[in-house]
Amino acid sequence: MSDQIHIVEMGPRDGLQNEKTPVSVEARIAFVEALVAAGLNTVEVGAFVSPKAIPQMASSDQVLRGVSHVRNGEFHVLVPNEKGYDAARAAGAKVVSVFAAASEGFSRANINCSVAESIERFKPVLARAKADGVKVRGYVSCVLGCPFDGEIKPKAVADLAVTLWDLGCYEISLGDTIGVGTPLRAREMLRAVGAELPVGNLAMHFHDTYGQALANLYAGMEEGVRVIDSAAGGLGGCPYAPGATGNVATEDVVYMLEGMGVKTGIDMDRLLATTNEVAGLLGRPPVSRVASALNAK
Ligand code: HMG
Ligand code: MG
Repeated sequence: MSDQIHIVEMGPRDGLQNEKTPVSVEARIAFVEALVAAGLNTVEVGAFVSPKAIPQMASSDQVLRGVSHVRNGEFHVLVPNEKGYDAARAAGAKVVSVFAAASEGFSRANINCSVAESIERFKPVLARAKADGVKVRGYVSCVLGCPFDGEIKPKAVADLAVTLWDLGCYEISLGDTIGVGTPLRAREMLRAVGAELPVGNLAMHFHDTYGQALANLYAGMEEGVRVIDSAAGGLGGCPYAPGATGNVATEDVVYMLEGMGVKTGIDMDRLLATTNEVAGLLGRPPVSRVASALNAK
């Protein structure tokens, strides 16, 4: 358990995509800069999706261009189709993420197509990315439950993860989109996927809606998963996942890992300052337990 864990920071994308308060391009760029300065080198900074669907992610091209000067940063953006890929590449994207769902209900609500159709949309993206030398990450949403279809079988998650892997994704991020999972179910799901794919190429993307995310992450670490998606301040949620709240908070993950003797290289003071800055922009305190505790000191 004491080897390296890689954190993929979600704050500027998943974190802001569901917020009512508009956040300016300048503030989004400053958020990314501050996260990298705190030691979070891999950051998802935006999404090239329909601005009608997710207005919060409009101008992601400006955000991506605006952080191109930042050294030591790897910046990810979501792309749902070739149109998004074109726009992401024009803005200089070197890593893009495609996103599918383990359930038909969420796929339809989120990206307006069936799971099979989404794979057809991703095929040309993956082919072009390979030719362009662009890395592609693949998400599977609703791995522990769907707001529309209910329970999800681990095999459905594993099958979709294999499909994305076979298309050429370098890493598969497994999303508990609505945060309903508990540790034994998370373990069962991760074992099913890990039986098909190298566990070192899996990531855990757990929302904390029911307060289970840290326990689920710990269960996944015991299975050998070493990549964790989290968001500063516990920001996040998806407008197409009713009732879902934020990602597991980066501060909470860092506190747990450091307490276990896992060196994260993340500067908690800087991370806390960044979290507080963004919370100020949004007009409410961070939901993160660690941020609340440290702010009360
Ligand atoms: P559609 O309606 O099926 O697509 O939407 P379409 O091709 O028929 O186009 C409809 C309109 O969208 C057209 O514009 C297109 O130009 C435009 P109009 O003629 O109406 O003005 N369009 C685009 N615009 C910008 N960028 C694009 C693009 N593609 C089409 N790439 C689509 C399909 C996927 C575009 C739409 O449903 C959409 O944008 N959905 C948003 C999905 C989203 O961003 N969800 C949140 C992120 S996923 C998530 O949070 C889960 C995750 O965190 C993991 C987890 O927690 O589980 C990753
Ligand atoms: Mg998410």
